[in-house]
Amino acid sequence: TTVFVLNGPNLNLLGRREPQVYGSTTLQDIEKLVREKAEALGTSVTFRQSNHEGHLVDWIQEAGAQGAGIVINAGAYTHTSIALRDAISGSGAPTVEIHISNVHAREGFRHRSLIAPVSVGVICGFGPQSYVLGLEAVHQVMAERAR
Ligand code: DQA
Repeated sequence: TTVFVLNGPNLNLLGRREPQVYGSTTLQDIEKLVREKAEALGTSVTFRQSNHEGHLVDWIQEAGAQGAGIVINAGAYTHTSIALRDAISGSGAPTVEIHISNVHAREGFRHRSLIAPVSVGVICGFGPQSYVLGLEAVHQVMAERAR
């Protein structure tokens, strides 16, 4: 299986950005964690980040066209983007929404996700491990669907 691990706005600053909320792990560190887990699972990973909504839309479409799964930390677009929601539902790609922080323990505007209803499930609050858990989850869903 192939899994696209997609990162939205401001996640390029991980490690320096609000470390009291998001920790000191960088996105590069997270990519390494994800690749280690992918190797253990026998999955190939495409790992990307953009601050631009349209890039994320393009990559979701690309994942769908390849029959890949998606793990997505859409950052703040999680809470605002109908375009990402439509891209996910249109792609048919099994998608797991993830967050580093527990969005439900934070401001009210982070409690609503526009992409959760079109995702298989949501993992949040486990720090960088949210990515690893998300990869495992989407891998399991894809294995089950292939049977
Ligand atoms: C985040 C949570 C979002 O609310 C926020 O806008 C982010 C990061 C997380 O990983 O905890 O940019 O997606």
